[in-house]
Amino acid sequence: MDSNTKAFLGLLKSRNLSASVPSISLETGEFLAGLVRKHSTMSLLELGTAHGYSTITFAAVMSEVGAKAEDSPRIVTVDFSKPSYDAAVANVLKAWFSHVVEHVFADALNFLPTLAEKFDAVFIDAEKRSTARIFEMAWPLVREGGWLVVDDVVKFRGKMADFYAHVEKLGIPHEIVMTDSDDGVMIFLK
Ligand SMILES: C[S@@+](CC[C@H](N)C(=O)[O-])C[C@H]1O[C@@H](n2cnc3c(N)ncnc32)[C@H](O)[C@@H]1O
Repeated sequence: MDSNTKAFLGLLKSRNLSASVPSISLETGEFLAGLVRKHSTMSLLELGTAHGYSTITFAAVMSEVGAKAEDSPRIVTVDFSKPSYDAAVANVLKAWFSHVVEHVFADALNFLPTLAEKFDAVFIDAEKRSTARIFEMAWPLVREGGWLVVDDVVKFRGKMADFYAHVEKLGIPHEIVMTDSDDGVMIFLK
């Protein structure tokens, strides 16, 4: 990641913290960047944009990977909050990644059934209580060989009880990785 993008993400992280806008931790960002590099992820669906911190992290790493492979990255990111959607559009523009990112202002629960395309990866970071329903619709959109990650699965395990039950019931193999001292992500490989 170039120094300008790193500096912009640092600024965005401190603005998010002071305005209580949620965003992935630096450590989770590094972990996700590793997944993008390992799997050469070129298309990604993100559910839960907030102000675009994770979106810009993905866009930066996917652009690096794409440049090496002479491929063009594509991110579709969804949020149902108009102020968050507007802030993310502005931040992604300032970070020079508008050509990579398609912003969708919608409820993921309504938008997901309209999607026909498959993605290399899906990142779920929306309302924790909706995770089971979002996962159910998003998992079929991951192409063979792709990956799906759900954020905050340890801290908000209680709010995600039906998601845990759903995954266990279907027997979908997964792994929980502690990316922070107090929280982790759940990873699914297809
Ligand atoms: C934890 S924040 C996302 C943080 C972001 N991924 C980052 O790391 O910068 C969750 C966001 O998801 C949005 N959200 C929650 N439930 C949603 C849904 N059903 N559809 C669309 N957006 C949703 C909220 O408005 C909020 O902005």
